[in-house]
Amino acid sequence: MVSGAAVHRSLEGRRAEVLDLVEDAYRLHGAGHTVNPPSYFLRFPDRPASRIIALPASVGGDVGVDGIKWISSFPTNVELGIPRASAMLVLNDRVTGYPFACLEGSIISAVRTAASAAVAARHLTAKRGAPRRIGFIGTGLIARYIHTYLGELGWPVEEFGVFDLNEEYARSFAGQVLGADTGTPVTVHSTAEELIRSSDLVVLATTAAAPHITDPDWFSHHPVVLHVSLRDLSTAIVLDSVNVVDDVDHVLQADTSVHLTEQQTGGRDFLHATLNDVLTGEYTVPADRTVVFSPFGLGLLDLVVGSNVHRWARAAGEVTTVDGFFHDLDRHQSAGTR
Ligand SMILES: NC(=O)c1ccc[n+]([C@@H]2O[C@H](COP(=O)([O-])OP(=O)(O)OC[C@H]3O[C@@H](n4cnc5c(N)ncnc54)[C@H](O)[C@@H]3O)[C@@H](O)[C@H]2O)c1
Repeated sequence: MVSGAAVHRSLEGRRAEVLDLVEDAYRLHGAGHTVNPPSYFLRFPDRPASRIIALPASVGGDVGVDGIKWISSFPTNVELGIPRASAMLVLNDRVTGYPFACLEGSIISAVRTAASAAVAARHLTAKRGAPRRIGFIGTGLIARYIHTYLGELGWPVEEFGVFDLNEEYARSFAGQVLGADTGTPVTVHSTAEELIRSSDLVVLATTAAAPHITDPDWFSHHPVVLHVSLRDLSTAIVLDSVNVVDDVDHVLQADTSVHLTEQQTGGRDFLHATLNDVLTGEYTVPADRTVVFSPFGLGLLDLVVGSNVHRWARAAGEVTTVDGFFHDLDRHQSAGTR
């Protein structure tokens, strides 16, 4: 078992390494060395806003691990003062299939999400220069992690902007998260339009279930948009942008904005590239168009980050073992009678 505290300690000071691990994981996926079946969404008729998602995956190459992330999203948790999402990550042995580790998964999930956004940001902005104005719409835990990982890119940011439906959350994020970056001015915007019009890089990390940003004109200055929450943008904006995704089959489901666009247009021509196409140079991202990155979030990223966290935690003596967990290990003789 690896506790959340041990996961946190293992990841400390390793952001650059995690960015490289996540970038390599996309390359492995692009080269066909992974198995990443569709996520399974467990939903509840009596609690329609909540869900628990199963993300099984297998990663080949040097990583060599199978496993599953089991992550719940209960948005009302925020009113209870605890994070929306909680998760466990199970790692399975490649030879025997036996689970060999169980890790607190929400930090790993947030880290792999933030690292994937930062890797995309690094490559999607390559031809246009570092963004000077970064704006966050939705100011929860994921936005906080994305801010931290974008910080690893070393951009000379001149201004941060924030907008949240709940102004108190926006102000708290501005003060506690962005305010920690001494010297960089922070503006709390009163509308999403104002924030988008004044940002070169827009991070969307809301819990919106349906598009609420609908006017393509707000994007006439052609920012890069990290559409991590996946359901914020209207079809008109998607069609007006260059669209880069993590995995085409994954992201075209569950009523994401690109899924709605596919349903409306009856095709996939509006998708320009996967992130791997960008990493390999197969697709060159234009500097004079709005670019939207929509990552569905692949279970293989959790396994890549999680298996390294397990290795780091073990080296630091931070893994708690449960002796006798697998008890009946002789096929013909009960463990109790030996
Ligand atoms: N793509 C991925 O790989 C991936 C991975 C993890 C999380 N996510 C998504 O990231 C999002 C954020 O997660 P979180 O844990 O930070 O959630 P959170 O509940 O902590 O924060 C979400 C924030 O968005 C705000 N918000 C909701 N609707 C809004 C709107 N229309 N306009 C502006 N603000 C709005 C809320 O007030 C809240 O402050 C979720 O949608 C989650 O599903 C995506």
